[in-house]
Amino acid sequence: MRGGPNGSPGRRENLAGSALRVRGLTKRYGSLTAVDGLDLDIAPSAIFGLLGPNGAGKTTTLEMVEGLRRPDAGSILYGDVDLVRRPEVARHRFGIQLQSSSFFPLLTVEETIQLFADLYPRSLPVPDLIDRFGLGDKRAARVQGLSGGQRQRLAVASALVHDPEVVFLDEPTAGLDPQARRNLWDLVSDFRREGRTVILTTHYMDEAEYLCDTVAVVDHGRVLDVGSPQDLIRRHLPGAVIELAPDVALPDGLPLPGLNRIDRSEERIALETGSLEETLVGLVTWAREAGQHLTGLSTRGATLEDVFLKLTGRSLRD
Ligand SMILES: Nc1ncnc2c1ncn2[C@@H]1O[C@H](COP(=O)(O)OP(=O)(O)O)[C@@H](O)[C@H]1O
Ligand SMILES: [Mg+2]
Repeated sequence: MRGGPNGSPGRRENLAGSALRVRGLTKRYGSLTAVDGLDLDIAPSAIFGLLGPNGAGKTTTLEMVEGLRRPDAGSILYGDVDLVRRPEVARHRFGIQLQSSSFFPLLTVEETIQLFADLYPRSLPVPDLIDRFGLGDKRAARVQGLSGGQRQRLAVASALVHDPEVVFLDEPTAGLDPQARRNLWDLVSDFRREGRTVILTTHYMDEAEYLCDTVAVVDHGRVLDVGSPQDLIRRHLPGAVIELAPDVALPDGLPLPGLNRIDRSEERIALETGSLEETLVGLVTWAREAGQHLTGLSTRGATLEDVFLKLTGRSLRD
């Protein structure tokens, strides 16, 4: 059904199942280059994640691909359609999750989704969307009374009204509790099952690891690396991580066998090692000689968060 001809200008070509190809994408704000020659290849019917610290250029990138912001340079192809020249194609086929703060607080859930549906020549049935996004109980409730999770589900439901081929989600679970996040993850996974392409940004590495087929780690408007979460972990951190409580007085230059680097945060000290046993033996020997306790000692395989910190050199703090 999607992509079928219906007389609207953006729907003439059959583009469902097309890849997005971004080359040399650039956006400057005065002297600041927010997006700096970015390349992306986004496969259809998969979930693509843009990961990066605050200010990395994720939202600006999304807005250009969505057709909402004009690039200063670069190309964006959807299939063989040039979206920089024809942003109306993006408007018809792409669904964009708006910040929930931009809803009218006095409208009901049903009125809000209907308002978006009325913008398009063709839309999915509003009652089905309300049920699908778990808002049945809130159909007649005003937007101002919704919980954070309900607002986010409303925002994503509103992005889906015109049955888009590509869905953009900019930090869809920011500020939600764990249950509400899980709930949204299920809904987003369903989009992929339906053959939609999903492009999301997130601050949560567990979210990216769980949801994304491919992630691009970006900083300063450039792609630092791209691949599946497992590829990135294997490529950058094939070894293991030893964690200690942050108050262990571990000297920075301590020569531990196998140790690659030490990452310190408020929560923990993480020692990244290519040889878990050797580093552990060295660590225990040091602790005994120095009269230190290895408080909070634990070991684990590397995660996407470790890769992120290694690549960007910063933590995910706002
Ligand atoms: N409209 C704007 N005018 C000026 N600077 C902007 C504007 N939007 C974003 N920026 C700047 O561009 C950089 C990238 O911002 P953004 O794309 O929002 O990053 P992210 O979404 O990764 O946090 C930041 O330094 C931000 O302050
Ligand atoms: Mg942003």
